[in-house]
Amino acid sequence: MRTVLLALLPLAALAGEPTFHKDVLPILQRHCQECHRAGEVAPMPLMTYPQVRPWAKAIKSAVLSRKMPPWFADAHYGKFSNDQSLGSAEMGILTSWVDSGAREGSPSDAPQPRNFADGWSIAPPDVTFELPHPVQVPAAGTIDYLFYRVPTGFTQDRWVEMIEVRPTNRSVVHHALVYVQSPDGGQYLGGYAPGAVPQQWKPGQARLIRAGSDLIFQMHYTANGKPAVDRTRVGLVFAKRPPNEQVIAMQALNPWFQIPPGAADFRVDAVRVVPEDAQLVGLRAHMHVRGKSFEFRAVYPDGRTQTLLRIPKYDFNWQPYYYLETPVKLPKGSRIECTARFDNSPNNAFNPDPTALVRWGEQSWEEMMIGWFDIAVPVKN
Ligand code: HEC
Repeated sequence: MRTVLLALLPLAALAGEPTFHKDVLPILQRHCQECHRAGEVAPMPLMTYPQVRPWAKAIKSAVLSRKMPPWFADAHYGKFSNDQSLGSAEMGILTSWVDSGAREGSPSDAPQPRNFADGWSIAPPDVTFELPHPVQVPAAGTIDYLFYRVPTGFTQDRWVEMIEVRPTNRSVVHHALVYVQSPDGGQYLGGYAPGAVPQQWKPGQARLIRAGSDLIFQMHYTANGKPAVDRTRVGLVFAKRPPNEQVIAMQALNPWFQIPPGAADFRVDAVRVVPEDAQLVGLRAHMHVRGKSFEFRAVYPDGRTQTLLRIPKYDFNWQPYYYLETPVKLPKGSRIECTARFDNSPNNAFNPDPTALVRWGEQSWEEMMIGWFDIAVPVKN
């Protein structure tokens, strides 16, 4: 009976089977193309049928194992607006498309192509700044941090609601941080690290750049065996209206640790007190290659503790900001506590030297422990 039915089915089933243009492309646009297009961080574009078809099996296994899209937060804690993870319906469509022969279908079913501004993933920037000259990165050796000062030329205060830092040669940029040096002090503006997403906040929130400020680019290049050239730049999108809230970057860090040789699970803690009533809007963990896991907690003045973000398997190659879907209220005096764990054992495949005593340092074979977090506070006029 069943066989007979099945034999009758193919036509009907064919009509219901997912096709590339109708069912798959919209998912790729939403969840994949930001990285999988020419000039971006992923190795192959996933824009057209001929580009995607050879990867069909790999796509199925990458999404089923949740390797793609990359995301590292423990789903038990916090909801994040830049979480690109697939829902189960989308995952079902991708897998049944692959299982049913990865058919193309009709191009007339395709959605409008997603528009990406030339080279930027944020809205087209109102202004861009680049390193004063192309930087020659040697093929080998240790490269000290390089600092470049780039005047903004701003004659009035500027509120910035999106920031994207883009290397022109990602293969040699370990990270790039851009600070604002203003007449009244220094502030973190934005940065690039592998897997980073651009800085952007909710409507009404922005970072402030004072008139007369300079941008300081802190560049960390790593040699990759071939001489290379990079000229990192930053694009800024100005707030269209005066914001209600100023976004300020803070960090909890601990530079005093010493990780013993061979230690497989070495704990380091850091804490930072929030100086005024604020909203927590984003978090980012930074460690180097011995980093194993990272956790952020808020400890409120009334003694309550809340886990904000857990990264159970830290991956040095992916250091995104985690933007909170709903900001967390931090009354003045709240503490942001961070716990990092490091693996200095030979079992850590990325460990360059398990016999080393490891301290804080700028280079990849040294370590860092920084919990970055962005708070939003009411704009004071
Ligand atoms: C944030 C950027 C980013 C997003 C979003 C992203 N990818 Fe990737 N993808 C990468 C990078 C980088 C690599 C290569 C390095 C790696 O394998 O980790 C990759 C590799 C892959 C591979 C090869 C995997 C392998 O095992 O060799 C597949 C297949 C893939 N991606 C599919 C997808 C699909 C499908 C989506 C969306 C559902 C997606 N990716 C979303 C960045 C991304």
